[in-house]
Amino acid sequence: MGDGPASGGSFSQSVVEKEFLALEAEIGEHDRRYYGEAAPTISDGAYDALLRRRQELLSLYPDLQKRAAPRTVGDDRLEKFEKRPHRRPMLSLNNTYSEEELRQFIERVERLAGGPLSFAVEPKIDGVAVSLVFRDGHLAHALTRGSGLEGDDVTANVRTIKGLPFKIPEAGQGILEVRGEIYIGREDFALLNGQREEEGLEPFANGRNLAAGSLKVLDPKKAAERRLRFIAYEIGEGDSPFLSHGQVLETLRLWGFPTNEFRMGLGADGVWERIREFGGRRQSYPFDTDGAVVKVDDRPLRERLGSQATAPRWAIAYKFSPERAETVLKGIRLQVGRSGVLTPVAELEPVSLAGTTIRSATLHNADEIARRDLRIGDTVLLERAGEVIPAVLGIVPAKRPPWAETYRYPDRCPACGGNLCRIAGEVAYRCLNPDCPPQIARRLLHFASRSAMDIGSLGPQRVGQLIEAGLVRNFTDIFHLQMDSLLTLPRTGEKSARHLLDGVEGAKNRPLWRLIHGLGIPHVGAETAKALALRWPSLEKLANCGSEELQHCEGIGAIVAASVQKFFQDDRNGRLVAELKMLGLRTEEMAVAGGPLAGKVFAITGTFSAYGREELKQKIEALGGSVRSALSRQVDLLLVGAEPGSKVIEAEKLNIPIGGERDLAELLGLSL
Ligand code: IVH
Repeated sequence: MGDGPASGGSFSQSVVEKEFLALEAEIGEHDRRYYGEAAPTISDGAYDALLRRRQELLSLYPDLQKRAAPRTVGDDRLEKFEKRPHRRPMLSLNNTYSEEELRQFIERVERLAGGPLSFAVEPKIDGVAVSLVFRDGHLAHALTRGSGLEGDDVTANVRTIKGLPFKIPEAGQGILEVRGEIYIGREDFALLNGQREEEGLEPFANGRNLAAGSLKVLDPKKAAERRLRFIAYEIGEGDSPFLSHGQVLETLRLWGFPTNEFRMGLGADGVWERIREFGGRRQSYPFDTDGAVVKVDDRPLRERLGSQATAPRWAIAYKFSPERAETVLKGIRLQVGRSGVLTPVAELEPVSLAGTTIRSATLHNADEIARRDLRIGDTVLLERAGEVIPAVLGIVPAKRPPWAETYRYPDRCPACGGNLCRIAGEVAYRCLNPDCPPQIARRLLHFASRSAMDIGSLGPQRVGQLIEAGLVRNFTDIFHLQMDSLLTLPRTGEKSARHLLDGVEGAKNRPLWRLIHGLGIPHVGAETAKALALRWPSLEKLANCGSEELQHCEGIGAIVAASVQKFFQDDRNGRLVAELKMLGLRTEEMAVAGGPLAGKVFAITGTFSAYGREELKQKIEALGGSVRSALSRQVDLLLVGAEPGSKVIEAEKLNIPIGGERDLAELLGLSL
């Protein structure tokens, strides 16, 4: 946005009004993308600039208030989730990028309080706010902020979070609300996004979007894969005996919640010093942080200060400006993934950014390069706003040298010379040569990885060695490895060779889904592999399935089905299946198909005394049944626990039978 007018009267009202309405529309659209779709198209800084300009116009031309849409906290609600009201509105925070405004905030609050105050300063986690409601010490619901008044019930997904206490007996009887932030750790984000690019999908822009998207997946198993984490920062206001914020955080920690570090700051100077200290260390946090939150420590005073429409008066977020640097684009290298996907990587003149030296940055795909008109020799602007991977924001046009060269995407694979092809509907180019050496290495590494066949002793170095020595090319070669040939490898003694062979032997008996996942079929991740193994407990049967039949399996759409079929139609893969079986790998699953709940489909609403939601799901699955998160006519029984949601009404409409705690006990063979 441009600079504001110097004084109120110098613009004709209609021009101003036009700008204001355009701003409102633009902000509304960005709100929808950020909160609703978790896929923003502008940076937080650019968005905040729009809000500031809006505020500026409003203060210059108070009449515009009549045209202003009410500012809300942003709405993340989605139709597919049950809604629940918040016990107290879930507010957002006012934020500022300026030290001056921060000092004004402190002055204002101290004036209202009538004297100097002590403030808590803590890192602002860039994730998604959730409210955890505990009843009599048990987690009853987890809600997103939603409209601020009611949120989406994401309890099933929140239950997949590791290290979060779901029972806090010390909290005693009654209702307790814990608020905090859900996020994806920086390392996990890099890992997950790498996998996504590998599958030819658009990568997530940052960890916050991935966390928001993951919290809203319908299948908690998928949410579990995203390794969500939680940090608690508040206990519901008003209804707790705590006198200070320090006490709250200490108690949360004792109850087993991950909490933030915090520092106390007295007055504006103390607070500013703390913020600078956090800012200096922001890159060392395991989560993305975009600022620091300054809060009045005294809780009864907070109550007296109260709130405005969207934010409390007792807190403010100071946001760090994103760190940026300019450097020269020296070249573009193409990295070949396991399925042949080529990822262009910018090779940069090394530059220091946010405490680390940056030498390269991903450019995601060919379209990105064209869209930004990136040329070799250009000066590019990098931003690292907390993310692990720096983003190339764009070029600095004034610094383009006359000789800057447009990058020509090759039509052959740079590693093997094989043909490239762009698959319809994907942004990525792929190398079609299955014998391309970097593809072989990555395929083998994926096969052996922890999320697939889990052969711990087969890491990147070992795989490189084995390929170089000509000992492995295919998955089957791994199972032909012998002690004497391993001993010819450099730095390999009997002990490490034995370790490797034991690992390989152990892999023969992995569950079938791990093998399916390990095969590296495009679009088949661990969850899809599990669904396939459950439906076709034999690799041979799966290999002979038609695309249409495959689509009958829950969670398998046309693209995945076509990909699976194409994989097995390739003769080489057909032979691979036969060979793996001959080598003694587990290609058939002892079916739970014979279980007492085989073929039965359940949905769940509310809470049960005997089990948590995830536990209950596992019990049902172990007996051969399956649990869906959404109701449909395929559901045989809706299990209704305490405090059910709107699913009950929906089930009645769809004529789906309803069962209670007793029916559940009967199903699971328990006596009540
Ligand atoms: S306290 C009444 N503390 O930032 C709101 N919020 O931009 C009390 N956030 O909505 C929130 N870290 O989702 C608080 N240490 C922290 C935080 C934090 C991140 C989030 C929270 C909030 C948003 C505002």
